[in-house]
Amino acid sequence: MARAMFTIWALFLIQILAQGANGAEGIPGLGVNWGALASHSLDPSIVVAMLKDNGIKKVKLFDADSWTVSAFSGTDIEVMVGIPNDQLSNFAGSYGDAEDWVQENVTEHLHKGGVNIRYVVVGNEPFLESYNGSYIKATFPAMQNIQKAIDKAGVGDKVKVTTAMNADVYESATNQPSEGDFRSGIHDLMKQIVHFLHEKNSPFLVNIYPFLSLYQNEGFPQEFAFFDSQSSTISDKNAQYSNMFDANLDTLVWALKKAGYPDLRIVVGEVGWPTDGDKNANPNNAKKFYQGFLKKMASKKGTPMRPGPMDVYLFSLFDENLKSIAPGNFERHWGIFGYDGKPKFPIDFSGQGQEKWPVAAKGVRYQEHKWCVLNRDVKNFSLVPDALSYACAGADCTSLGMGYSCGNLDVAGNASYAFNQYYQTRDQSVEACDFNGIANIVTEDPSKGSCVFPIEIESSGEMLRAMHILGSILIGLSLFHVTFM
Ligand SMILES: *[C@@H]1O[C@H](CO)[C@@H](O)[C@H](O)[C@H]1NC(C)=O
Ligand SMILES: *[C@@H]1O[C@H](CO)[C@@H](O)[C@H](O)[C@H]1NC(C)=O
Ligand SMILES: *[C@@H]1O[C@H](CO)[C@@H](O)[C@H](O)[C@H]1NC(C)=O
Ligand SMILES: *[C@@H]1O[C@H](CO)[C@@H](O)[C@H](O)[C@H]1NC(C)=O
Repeated sequence: MARAMFTIWALFLIQILAQGANGAEGIPGLGVNWGALASHSLDPSIVVAMLKDNGIKKVKLFDADSWTVSAFSGTDIEVMVGIPNDQLSNFAGSYGDAEDWVQENVTEHLHKGGVNIRYVVVGNEPFLESYNGSYIKATFPAMQNIQKAIDKAGVGDKVKVTTAMNADVYESATNQPSEGDFRSGIHDLMKQIVHFLHEKNSPFLVNIYPFLSLYQNEGFPQEFAFFDSQSSTISDKNAQYSNMFDANLDTLVWALKKAGYPDLRIVVGEVGWPTDGDKNANPNNAKKFYQGFLKKMASKKGTPMRPGPMDVYLFSLFDENLKSIAPGNFERHWGIFGYDGKPKFPIDFSGQGQEKWPVAAKGVRYQEHKWCVLNRDVKNFSLVPDALSYACAGADCTSLGMGYSCGNLDVAGNASYAFNQYYQTRDQSVEACDFNGIANIVTEDPSKGSCVFPIEIESSGEMLRAMHILGSILIGLSLFHVTFM
């Protein structure tokens, strides 16, 4: 009897193990970005479980928040931690501060059973042209100081220092990749950085966005942003390019070649497609982009100049409702998953191109089923425009707009959407649903078609930090607050 039981038990166990092996398995080299600029954040342990459920083994963070980083303890997920741009001048100027940072944010986590930190990204797109050169002086010295501190801590073989470059650090006058070279104003600096990366055996990290090319250029051939086009749009020496990603990456390869480092390893730090906030940003296009991209990645074909497997971090895991919308309304909608960890479209992380929904975050707690809308009894709309501006200045209204997910609402719908965003962001506080008496709280979901009126999640301890960010937005509004509310 005991023996029979054991056999049954063993068969059961084998079955479970087999299921585990058949479960989600991401393409080797595939990672995701996880940004934290949201008013309400998922508990890091929920996110780590979600990554495991989806077979994703690499993650890129934009800071080194210890609660987030610690959640990876005991997993084999590779972690890339970051140093934000506003701290670069500090680390450039003070080796002591660099040492403290490395001690607290790297070395501390590296013990056995700790966190598998593999990279420190010093600065995020610091040479972006729209920054007007603000970080050009500090970036390289900050990288050097962090590297020195890592070497001193004795972990230089395991933990690599790099910086995340925007694709505008290189250019090609003719659009042909072979004409590629580093941007003239920073050419010498880029050569120094590339030399440093080569010496330290660190990769060149680059962010490539076909979506932005389409967004910024009216005449950009739409299909060139995706991966299914059969016709080549660029011919260059012996190479044919039928998608913008390959052409862009190869422009970098040529720039590296000319700088004397043709074989420097390249890691794509960000690539992805947003789902709202622009006429080309929707779940269908995002699905098409990722499907084409992941199939290409799984094929290990690489690009004409860099055949072979690629290392890539998708952008991004979640929507972030506090991101700056200076580049465009789409900025808050890059998530493959929504703010609450629900997937937005089918995506097959194994690159087989199957119509598969990824595994949602588990154990997410939402606030109550309540919404804030324009009071039905309001017939005089004269107060609506100011109330709407007020709500949208203090919450995310980037789904309102022609061709966006909430682009078909009437004036009242617009107001309701904005009021609800404001109310949810403030944890359904009663005072946040007043708007001079023209709003009220309802228990029936006002969502219409593609326009979802969200309910926020219960934030997990991150609230303090988020309210701090919101606080700075609100300071600017306080004058209006006094006169209006
Ligand atoms: C470690 O990183 C966190 C988050 O990025 C930062 O707030 C903290 O100041 C860093 N620690 C040190 C000693 O610099
Ligand atoms: C860069 O300069 C432009 C034009 O002078 C200005 O509008 C913008 O705010 C500046 N950006 C930063 C980050 O300083
Ligand atoms: C609508 O309300 C505003 C402000 O309360 C008021 O000045 C205006 O006269 C009202 N309009 C109508 C048609 O009642
Ligand atoms: C609703 O708001 C959006 C964004 O502010 C605006 O583009 C649109 O025209 C508004 N719709 C109506 C009917 O007022």
